Amino acid sequence: MEKEKKVMLSGIQPSGDLHLGNYLGAIRNWAARAEEFECYYFMADMHTLTVHQVPAELRRRTITQLAQYISCGLDPEQNTLFIQSHVPQHAELAWVLNCFTMFGELSRMTQFKDKAAQNADNINGGLFTYPTLMAADILLYQPDFVPVGSDQKQHVELTRDVAQRFNHIYGDVFKIPEPYIPKEGARIMSLSDPTVKMSKSSPEGCVFLQDSPEEITRKFKRAVTDSDTENCVRYAPEEKPGVSNLIVIYSACTGRTHEQIEEEFKGQGYGALKKAVGEAVAETLRPIREQTDRLLKDKGYLEEIYRNGAQRASRTADKTLRKVYKKVGFVPR
Ligand code: TYM
Repeated sequence: MEKEKKVMLSGIQPSGDLHLGNYLGAIRNWAARAEEFECYYFMADMHTLTVHQVPAELRRRTITQLAQYISCGLDPEQNTLFIQSHVPQHAELAWVLNCFTMFGELSRMTQFKDKAAQNADNINGGLFTYPTLMAADILLYQPDFVPVGSDQKQHVELTRDVAQRFNHIYGDVFKIPEPYIPKEGARIMSLSDPTVKMSKSSPEGCVFLQDSPEEITRKFKRAVTDSDTENCVRYAPEEKPGVSNLIVIYSACTGRTHEQIEEEFKGQGYGALKKAVGEAVAETLRPIREQTDRLLKDKGYLEEIYRNGAQRASRTADKTLRKVYKKVGFVPR
């Protein structure tokens, strides 16, 4: 009998255009796994409503994100690619899990604290219960691994706690998933402030996957490096966060180790490093951008993919949801 494949699942919010942090921290690690794993990747559009969105922009970004997933190497035949809001079981399971997640646990989530501080006029219930929707996204598919950047580790840990609590009461319903965090690129920092993570909310320090090569090299040229007098390319994240971030990005794009990079730039200043990293990133992203542009011209093709993806995802998700509903005592439909 053929051995069952292990399952991987992850998602990204289409709350802004995809950037280098999303690529190096997450998507790049998804693409290589399709043979080995059964994979589910989705556009987490429901999560984006926790902050205000412009509807037409959200629609555009969701479709662009699908085209980018494919351009980053996710073959839609091998991977199930879908839009979260097309699979209603996510919202349904989220409600049940909300009743097994404690107020105190949700209050401790750093993403909630950060976003509540950034959006003081809109601290809504969705922002607070966001991690239970994420737990539902994950647990519906019984994955073994959830490949994410290090900022999402806390949410995956909460998912594990909630799943264990549920299993403890009702028996083995959920598989307990592991976060899968890359060694290089788990946390890419902003180019304009290397003490905060690269994010779409501060576009000056953020390299988007759709940026042109000229734009990318310009952003790296202006990257903030460190105000030491040494001007020596050396990996030391505490002392030299700016230069270290550039080394991490260069290493992730070229496969060279930190030591090899230090050696390559021996006797040269930060300017040479910035130029080289900018060029390496522009080359890494070029084919992705070009293919995304091509795919976006064929809306019919993308529509077929997200429709098929939602059907496939829904079949798996429904099995888990039926089991959960039965366990908690809901009368079968
Ligand atoms: P999101 O949309 O903020 O980010 C998507 C993925 O990109 C990673 N990432 C980064 N990695 C390295 N450096 C950075 N600067 C950087 N910025 C973002 C994130 O760690 C993430 O892997 N809650 C999730 C989306 C989500 C999800 C899920 C993920 C919803 N449901 C279920 C996994 C499973 C989020 O806001 O990620």
